[in-house]
Amino acid sequence: MGFVRAAATAILRAVIQPLGATLQFVREDVPELEDTGTGIEYWRDGLERRMPRWWVLTWRGRVIMRMRSRHNERAYWRRRRDLVRLIDEMNAATLLPALGKDSHVLEPGCNVAQNLWEISQRWNCEIYGLDIDREALDHAAKRPWPRPAHLFEADVLEPGALEKFSDRQFDLVVTRWHLVHLPPGERKQRYVRELKRIGKAGLILEPTSTDKIGRVEWRQKGTYCLSWDDWEGWYGLKRFAPRIPLPYTAVFYW
Ligand SMILES: C[S@@+](CC[C@H](N)C(=O)[O-])C[C@H]1O[C@@H](n2cnc3c(N)ncnc32)[C@H](O)[C@@H]1O
Repeated sequence: MGFVRAAATAILRAVIQPLGATLQFVREDVPELEDTGTGIEYWRDGLERRMPRWWVLTWRGRVIMRMRSRHNERAYWRRRRDLVRLIDEMNAATLLPALGKDSHVLEPGCNVAQNLWEISQRWNCEIYGLDIDREALDHAAKRPWPRPAHLFEADVLEPGALEKFSDRQFDLVVTRWHLVHLPPGERKQRYVRELKRIGKAGLILEPTSTDKIGRVEWRQKGTYCLSWDDWEGWYGLKRFAPRIPLPYTAVFYW
């Protein structure tokens, strides 16, 4: 369905562009949610269709029509088979440890824990998830985990957020489209150092764009952001090129 919509939009855009018109897809803040100052409003968008989205048709810079979109990406609920395939590939290359029922795996910024769920289904590991969003964690907690999952609410930028975890406690720490939403700076540097302290190995899946490195695109009341960091240069991560690339996502590890 998403593919059909994207194709139809591309065709429409190509037809109207020579006439001086543009078609934009615009998201708005969630009006009824209190601004938490953390951008939670944005991340909750993937849980249910809350955030208003609009199709905006403009002609020569003037808005001609504004139409409410009904679609729901439900991005956080997508299956994550690609992650299992990637871990298998990196295991084979001995870049990540082999996982099993004695392995401890942490995902900060896990949201509804779709990545962790996929890992637990395949390897039955001891699962740890952490997020700033209580509502997302409540969804994660409702899953029929094969063994109890440890889920924590925390703001990872707060000093001490990962203090309770000991050095090299986790066999694998995973982040996926999480670091990209944290503003760069000393707090983020400290956070990544902490991740390296507690994780024997790390798998970091984040978008990257060479022409945007160093730029921060702020959205949603100046809280939620897209931070185009230099993942290798700033945080000392290594890059891995998977056989089958993940859409819009670069793979790093330590
Ligand atoms: C784009 S979502 C990705 C969710 C998940 N990793 C996935 O692949 O579906 C980013 C996640 O990071 C969490 N997050 C953002 N800032 C955070 C912070 N300061 N502390 C803890 N979690 C945070 C958000 O609540 C959200 O669940």
